[in-house]
Amino acid sequence: MRTESVMVTGAAGFIGSHLCERLLDEGHAVTGVDSFTDYYSPARKRRNLDALRGRAGFRFVEEDLVTADLDRLLEGAGGVFHLAAQAGVRASWGKDFKPYLDSNVFAVQRLLEAVKGRPGTRIVHASSSSVYGETAELPTGEDAAKTPRSPYGATKLAAEHLLELYRLGFGVTYRALRFFTVYGPRQRPDMAFSRFIEAGLAGEPIEVYGDGSQTRDFTYVADAVEAAVLAYRYDGPETVFNVGGGSRTALGDVIGVIAAELGVRFDVRGAPRAKGDVADTFADTSRARRELGFAPRVAIAEGIRNEIAWYRAYAAEREGRTGSP
Ligand code: NAD
Ligand code: UGA
Repeated sequence: MRTESVMVTGAAGFIGSHLCERLLDEGHAVTGVDSFTDYYSPARKRRNLDALRGRAGFRFVEEDLVTADLDRLLEGAGGVFHLAAQAGVRASWGKDFKPYLDSNVFAVQRLLEAVKGRPGTRIVHASSSSVYGETAELPTGEDAAKTPRSPYGATKLAAEHLLELYRLGFGVTYRALRFFTVYGPRQRPDMAFSRFIEAGLAGEPIEVYGDGSQTRDFTYVADAVEAAVLAYRYDGPETVFNVGGGSRTALGDVIGVIAAELGVRFDVRGAPRAKGDVADTFADTSRARRELGFAPRVAIAEGIRNEIAWYRAYAAEREGRTGSP
């Protein structure tokens, strides 16, 4: 097993913080890099690092990948798990596009330029189901048409093209994992489950974009992390893998599960379908199963229970801090 030093970008983020913990458990030395962008609360990102600080083998560097000296950061690293990005599908229109371009395209090009001179350094890259856009092929295989419906998806697809260009041109080894809507403890606060759970705990209304019939292949964070670890170890010929949770659930149904778990009745406010949202996602994970030995383990009810438990603890902690009742 490869247990050398690795770099994790986006280490203070939702998936990145879980991945760092898992890599330390596996015996890797981990350099976490994050710039604490203000897409959501930097304080919350710093809190994501709490479980990592002080752990043997973990080092954290606050740097922006758009400007960082990547050659220096990569010294001694056998591989890079590249998770840093400007995430969020619906916020990627209009004047807010610039950070998507910077973090999702330019930073990837800078990383590839740094890695190309370091033979043997592997990249595991967090790509996205959003590269497919609206597709009639369900479940969707990796070779399906890529027609993103959001500027975010376009930047994630551009990053995949850059990875492939540097593989062809310079022999860079990469694995791109197309994650499908990841959820679980520490989920980003802009995402649906987070919003619904927070609203449920606070007794506030929720907003559903469209009629709630949209479906997603929701993926539990530990399963996404497992796929990343397996992809890092993989020596076979494939470069791109779908990573999904193994089933497709309608948003309306998931709202029912969250309400039942919280013991609340949601006050649901309708809102127009969001621009950039696709109707359905469903990963064909047969390639990841065959090549990586990947199998998602956490079913949606269990995963939602875990996310709610985390939110309850987080809410209690915030109340304790502010002294509010
Ligand atoms: P996140 O926003 O919680 O984490 C991303 C982290 O990257 C943040 O902490 C941010 O501060 C950091 N970052 C952004 N730009 C940076 C830069 N230029 N330099 C240094 N750090 C920077 O998001 P997440 O949900 O954990 O997503 C992680 C990765 O997985 C992203 O690449 C995202 O596109 C991808 N992804 C996520 C999902 C999902 O459902 N959460 C699904 C598909 C793909
Ligand atoms: C998620 C992540 O946020 C992206 O970073 C990632 O790239 C993408 O998955 C992916 O699979 O690649 P999304 O599927 O939009 O994007 O996930 P959520 O934010 O959890 O939204 C799920 C659905 O709930 C969407 O249809 C959205 O419109 C809806 N929603 C969200 C609401 O109806 N109300 C809300 O308050 C929030």
